[in-house]
Amino acid sequence: MIGTGYVGLVTGACLADLGHTVVCVDRDSEKIDALSAGRVPVYEAGLEALATKHLESGDLSFTTDIQEAVSKSQFVFITVDTPPDETGRADITRVEEVARSIAGSINDYKVIINKSTVPIGSTKMVQRIIEESMEEYREYDVVSNPEFLREGTAVSDFMDPSRIVIGSDSQKAVMLLTELYRGLDAPLFVTDPVSAEMIKYASNAFLATKVTYINAIANLCEAVGADVREVALGMGYDERIGFEFLKPGPGFGGSCFPKDCRALLAISRDHGYDFDLLEGVLEVNREQHERTVAKVERLSGGLKGRKVGVLGLAFKANTDDVRESPAVRVTKMLMERGAHVTAFDPRAMDNARPELPGAGFAESAYEAVEDADVLVLLTEWDEFKWLDYERVRGLMARPLIVDARNCLDPVVLRKLGFTYEGVGR
Ligand code: UGA
Repeated sequence: MIGTGYVGLVTGACLADLGHTVVCVDRDSEKIDALSAGRVPVYEAGLEALATKHLESGDLSFTTDIQEAVSKSQFVFITVDTPPDETGRADITRVEEVARSIAGSINDYKVIINKSTVPIGSTKMVQRIIEESMEEYREYDVVSNPEFLREGTAVSDFMDPSRIVIGSDSQKAVMLLTELYRGLDAPLFVTDPVSAEMIKYASNAFLATKVTYINAIANLCEAVGADVREVALGMGYDERIGFEFLKPGPGFGGSCFPKDCRALLAISRDHGYDFDLLEGVLEVNREQHERTVAKVERLSGGLKGRKVGVLGLAFKANTDDVRESPAVRVTKMLMERGAHVTAFDPRAMDNARPELPGAGFAESAYEAVEDADVLVLLTEWDEFKWLDYERVRGLMARPLIVDARNCLDPVVLRKLGFTYEGVGR
């Protein structure tokens, strides 16, 4: 496993759990030392326990030595970062470097698997780099095998996947990969590499569009007096629509959707196609952050000098990740407009601190809302649903709540004397 980021660690630990011997490689020796000592640098349910179990059994190990790891392995997964460059395109410098390093260590037949989200055509590109960098020809295949892991549920997503997509022209590679994944009960979809790469982008952009669509419907529900939760339920019974991904909020975020939508737009531009729909999705998503801020502003009668208690900074619940977090973006905008913010998140405070200079950080949700003029709930952590809102009411200066995730019960809150605003209800 080359690259011990999120995807590499989850895939490595889970493959070890399926009975394989896995070695994870990273050039960052401090990270490798920490991982070898059983310290997993990301918060992901079940990952540390799984990694520790297989570290102890010897099925999982960590190293900085890419040459040795590749030469001893039959499968080589490329799971390095592909951060966006200034044009929004995925930067594949690391993938290229790794491809060159792999080339020098191929001693017998290997399946090289591209798992990172890479631009269309990257599987072929990796193949070309390896071919050019190899001193003596050895047999190998490069395969696209995109991941569909969600943060927070990545381990169970790996173990119980919706599908396994393999993009390859080589029957031998497909057979071996099928064998590797034998412990998983999921449809196996074999296609060509370019289509496999497109499946990843098209899936993420579709889900981002679905979230954006329900956000737009929520905004309209506010105008006409409908309840978006009822609307989403009523829509979801149609199997062509389904119940998933119809929760409105402050906009989508995270390390994948925004980046992949921008990358797909760049790919479209490069190929002369105007993907106006996706352009619109990103625009509407930006507006959704703005709408959330405007709601707080309206409810509290202006933001200048107001004390705002923010609950939630992670881009969604059950993760400590704040990359492109709508919660962080909204919090920033509140402060830019003169609000004094005190925030609390059960997991993401350390990651959020550098992003929010000037904000106060509380030890608990109750501390965050002390003397606040308005409470803004931005991430749907379970613990925010079960707070003692009578106590919250007593702590706040004014009883105002903006629930940007529709987590709370307006009937109960109104009985307690709160003025409540959700999304689309
Ligand atoms: C996403 C995809 O769901 C995974 O399938 C994919 O593998 C992953 O990206 C990736 O490319 O690595 P993730 O970024 O972990 O996973 O997060 P999601 O659970 O998909 O949520 C994305 C954003 O949409 C979050 O900000 C979330 O709050 C928002 N969302 C999601 C909503 O606002 N409403 C919903 O109903 C669902």
